[in-house]
Amino acid sequence: MTVGDGEVREGGLSWGRTYLMCEPVHFGVLYEINPWMHAEVQVDRERARAQWEGLLATLRAAGAVVEVMQQPEGVPDLVFTANAGIVNATARGGPRFVPSHFRHPERQPETAVFRAWFEARGWAIDTLPEALDHEGAGDALPFGDVLLSGYRFRSDQAAATVLSGFTGGPVRSIELVDERLYHVDITFCPLDDRHAIGAPMGWDRYGRTVVEALVPEPLWLTDEEALSFCANSVVVGRTVIMPSTPVRVGRRLEAWGFDVVTCDVSEFLKAGGGCRCLTLALDVGLGPGPADATAG
Ligand code: ARG
Repeated sequence: MTVGDGEVREGGLSWGRTYLMCEPVHFGVLYEINPWMHAEVQVDRERARAQWEGLLATLRAAGAVVEVMQQPEGVPDLVFTANAGIVNATARGGPRFVPSHFRHPERQPETAVFRAWFEARGWAIDTLPEALDHEGAGDALPFGDVLLSGYRFRSDQAAATVLSGFTGGPVRSIELVDERLYHVDITFCPLDDRHAIGAPMGWDRYGRTVVEALVPEPLWLTDEEALSFCANSVVVGRTVIMPSTPVRVGRRLEAWGFDVVTCDVSEFLKAGGGCRCLTLALDVGLGPGPADATAG
C-alpha cells in the first residue's frame, strides 16, 4: 500500500516514531552486571560516539524524531535509555511515565536522572513499590494491545501486575531463562500488528506458548541468531534497524516488505546492549487511551 510521508501504514506499529537517546559522553564498561560485560575490555570512546551518531542518523533517515539527553558522570549505562522506564504517551489526562527500579546498585542512580527528564517535560509520574524491580522498556514491549513483560534477571514478575494497574491495559509476563538474554528486548521485537521477531531460547515453556498465542506470524530465531542480538532492533515504520543481520533473518524481513539497515554498535555490545537498548520509544500508548476518557 502506498501512503504519504509520515503516515502510519495500515497494519504497521502505532508507535516507534519518536525516541529518546542519550549522548555517550561517559559511556564505558566500568562494572560487570551481565555476561557480556568484561571490565578489562576497553571501550573505544571515539568509536562508540561515531557508532551512536550513526544510529541517530539512521533513525532520523528512517523518519524518526529523536530527542537527545545529556549523560552525567558516574552512570555509564545511562546511554541505554530503553531501561529508563515505561512510557504511556496516551494516558487519560496526559502522558505518564513509570521510572525503572534497577536490580543492580550500579544502575540505581539513573532513576532520578530519567525521572527528572520526564518531569521537566510535564509527564506525570507513577512510582513502583520500593520492593519491586522493573527495568522499563528493556523488559516490556507492546504487541497489539498487550504489554509483554520479561522477568527474572532484572525485573520482578509482580511488577507486571502493578504496571497493568497503572496503565489499565493487559500485561503478560514471561520468564527469561538464559542470562545472556537478560532483558525481554533481546528476545523479542514487534514488527507490525502481525509480525514479530522472537528468540524462544530465552523463554521457558510457558513463555513460548504466550508469545505463540500473541503473534500471528513470528520469525523465530535460532540460538545463534538470537545471541547475535538481532532481536534488539528498532522498527521505524517499515524500516528495521539491526545491530546484526543474519542472512536468513534479513531475507525473511525483506520478504515481509521491510527495509533492513544494519547499524554497527559493537562498542555498546561490549556492555550487553544493541540498537533497541540505546533508544526509548516516547510514543507508546498503553491501556484504553484518551479516546475513552469522555466515558470516565
Ligand atoms: N550494561 C547494561 C545493563 O546490563 C546494558 C543494558 C541493555 N539494555 C537493554 N534494554 N537490553 O544493564
